[in-house]
Amino acid sequence: MIIAIDGPAAAGKGTLTRKLAKYYNLALLDTGLIYRAVGLKAVLNGDPSDSEIAIQAAKSLDLADLKIHGIRGELAAKSASLVAAIPAVRDVLLEFQREFAHNPPDGKLGSILDGRDIGTVVCPDAKIKLFITASLEVRTDRRYKELQERGEEAIRSAVLNDIKTRDERDIARALSPLKPAGDAKIIDSSDFNASEVFSLAQEFISSQMK
Ligand code: CDP
Repeated sequence: MIIAIDGPAAAGKGTLTRKLAKYYNLALLDTGLIYRAVGLKAVLNGDPSDSEIAIQAAKSLDLADLKIHGIRGELAAKSASLVAAIPAVRDVLLEFQREFAHNPPDGKLGSILDGRDIGTVVCPDAKIKLFITASLEVRTDRRYKELQERGEEAIRSAVLNDIKTRDERDIARALSPLKPAGDAKIIDSSDFNASEVFSLAQEFISSQMK
């Protein structure tokens, strides 16, 4: 069983993915973390928009890099979306993600991956595809609250701008742009809390497993 979860920034994919992984006992891969790690490594070596630097960072990626300090921060998010627009970087990272999806670690019988192109490119054969979205205002509020809870300084208008710029870049890129797969179930979570989104997802998954 492979579950693919896609959607724009701060839509609640991470929370839903963790809940589903636990409930269905699936191996979880947050593919955003991979791009964030490559982005941060590229920043350390210069400019993340420089393809040579970004490709080198992708090729030298190690699982330990997913724990680099600051990986959940906004610098990592911004540099992730810059390296993610470079086709050769995506090519390098594609195999790793497919291998994880089809041969989940830790003896798990299935996997769940979240990102931007899981249902469209990484696992077009996934049985279950969900596209989680929410209005820009709601997503800004969620990310702002998350940053505050982590004790990071944040200005709401800057958070909104960061999310908006990143979404626009993710939607506009030529390779693997952010978009729902034709067979994805779209859930707009603007008016729902995390448990309500989980219930909607679970209902959909049950209907697909029959
Ligand atoms: O947590 P948040 O929704 O803010 O972002 P993320 O999932 O950690 O992803 C960070 C960035 O990585 C995104 O804005 C994309 O540019 C890129 N990404 C991607 O291109 N493809 C993926 N499968 C996952 C992330």
